[in-house]
Amino acid sequence: MHRRQYLIGIVAVVLANSVNLLPYYFIRLTIDGLTRSTDRNPATLGVTLAQVGLYALGIVLAALTAGALTLVMRRMIVIASRQTEYEIRRDIYANLQTLDKAYYDRARTGDIMNRLTGDLSAVREMLGFGAWQIVNIVSAFATSFSVLFGLSWQLTLIVIAVLPVIVGLLWYLARLINQRHTLVQEQNSLIAAKAQENFSGARVVKGYAIEDREIADYRAMNLELLRRNIALTKVDGPLRAFTTLLIGLTFGVILLVGGWLILFPQSGGGFTVGKFVQFVGTLDRLAWPMMMIGWITGVTQRGMASWRRLRELLDARPQIHDEPGRTDPSIRTLRGAVDFEDVTVRYGDRLVLDHVNLHLPAGTFLGVTGPTGSGKTVLAQLITRSLDPTSGVVRLDGHDIRQIPLRVLRENISVVPQEPFLFSDTIANNIAFGLESQELPTIPTGVSVVETPVPPTLPPQPDMKRVQEAARLAGLAGDVENFPEGYNTMLGERGVTLSGGQRQRTAIARAIVREPRILILDDSLSAVDTETERRILDGLREVAQGRTVILIAHRVSTLRHADQIVVLEEGRVIEQGTHDELLAAGGHYAELERLQRLASDLDTEDEGIRDAEAAADDLKHVLPQEAMK
Ligand SMILES: Nc1ncnc2c1ncn2[C@@H]1O[C@H](COP(=O)(O)OP(=O)(O)OP(=O)(O)O)[C@@H](O)[C@H]1O
Ligand SMILES: [Mg+2]
Repeated sequence: MHRRQYLIGIVAVVLANSVNLLPYYFIRLTIDGLTRSTDRNPATLGVTLAQVGLYALGIVLAALTAGALTLVMRRMIVIASRQTEYEIRRDIYANLQTLDKAYYDRARTGDIMNRLTGDLSAVREMLGFGAWQIVNIVSAFATSFSVLFGLSWQLTLIVIAVLPVIVGLLWYLARLINQRHTLVQEQNSLIAAKAQENFSGARVVKGYAIEDREIADYRAMNLELLRRNIALTKVDGPLRAFTTLLIGLTFGVILLVGGWLILFPQSGGGFTVGKFVQFVGTLDRLAWPMMMIGWITGVTQRGMASWRRLRELLDARPQIHDEPGRTDPSIRTLRGAVDFEDVTVRYGDRLVLDHVNLHLPAGTFLGVTGPTGSGKTVLAQLITRSLDPTSGVVRLDGHDIRQIPLRVLRENISVVPQEPFLFSDTIANNIAFGLESQELPTIPTGVSVVETPVPPTLPPQPDMKRVQEAARLAGLAGDVENFPEGYNTMLGERGVTLSGGQRQRTAIARAIVREPRILILDDSLSAVDTETERRILDGLREVAQGRTVILIAHRVSTLRHADQIVVLEEGRVIEQGTHDELLAAGGHYAELERLQRLASDLDTEDEGIRDAEAAADDLKHVLPQEAMK
């Protein structure tokens, strides 16, 4: 990746470092010429004004060349590091999109975000400024020392004697600084996470009136940050002071020995004032690279640690994926027949589904009910293949679901999840979210960019006819008409807040706008009143023509028109049949129906229950967000 850019950059840095040493050579020629020093060099045996002018011009040219080379370096190394940053971010994001439920069940959102920002910057710093400085340090030392040796080996030996002490000390201090810097960064993360949680959960904090405790907590964390910052400053300051002191000491010794070499020429073999000035100037150029050594170790250490954390994101693979040999690419579409053959799902030693058998011809309207935790959501997840069964087979149109390309599966099945997620976007875009956007070019990953990539064209406007029709079927159209900007109303943080029932219906509209072969609704009518529910069910029956619909619900009133109803309990199918058959059987379902009929009779008498339900709705709003932390 970017080998050519780095190579050119490195050559530029080495050349710049060599050219940078030329001015001192010209100064030496001038001084030795002016002082008529005798080092048997004819060029310095007397000097004319024209010669001095030439040297002056040489200095200017050297400065110009060094400047130009630095520009080339920046063009190459720094731009390459920015491009690499873009590539890593692009590839990680693309990979994160391929990962499945099993990954996101374990991953922490905050952690992923942190890696994509903080760790990525650390890697970029290492590849850009860091790489430049490493080359710079090495080549500065190499070029300077060859010149120094040529000028005076005695003085150079003194430098070599002192250098390890300075570098060692700087290195030690830099490590201390890095350690304390890490501590500061960790505390920064904690504080940010705390603040973010508090702002997102403001309703809970207010609701429980625990502001004072939260303020005290935050203050303690803030104080700890202050303490760590002061500890950092305490080692940061001495670094500069010590360096200046040691460099001053070195120059003192060199001045003494250099003066002695000039005063007693028989000891030094042709050491001149000009050479002395060149020596000191050349040495002075090493001060900055020396300071950078400690700093660069830190950048490299941080960069490598961060790179390991990024690799984990790049290397993560979905558990469920297409597999050559097993996936059958000739399957392009689905009709919608669903069969479960002895399907068992275990999480660890927890039995979640226990030998479930189902037979649904294409076009069936299936109702599923059962107590909370009985495995309804898991059953739905098997049909989208968010999860593979521990044993048994799920079949769609007679094919083992594992043979069907995931793309075909996802294109033909829509799910309204139990906790729908809406984006901070217009309501139209939220509904049209799953509509195909094949016009978009796929962005290649794993390749280097050298030019600035062309920004992708934005997805085309959603097909408003389809959006409106879906909204109507989902019983949402009336609500949207009352919004300030209709379908262009923004939702979420910068827009209107939908009620629980409106959120559910938006999610239903999103699912049906794609006209899927199989439609799954997981407890999607829990937050709407019975009147709205009737409207949605009418819409759904219209949608259901020729499609397989799986409707998970707790209310018998929601399920009564289903072709088939399945009652789950602790992962087992305990009853199965039509509404009338199940009522006649007088089992679990019949009991559920009796209790709910009693409750609804009470409900009409007591409006208070409405209010309680509304309050429960509000809580549901808050809880899913809380649960995600
Ligand atoms: N990723 C998971 N890891 C471990 N256990 C899980 C996981 N997902 C689900 N379970 C367990 O599987 C069981 C069935 O869960 P499921 O979500 O299917 O219940 P449900 O019938 O949909 O309940 P509800 O009506 O409350 O939505 C539960 O005991 C649940 O804790
Ligand atoms: Mg569920």
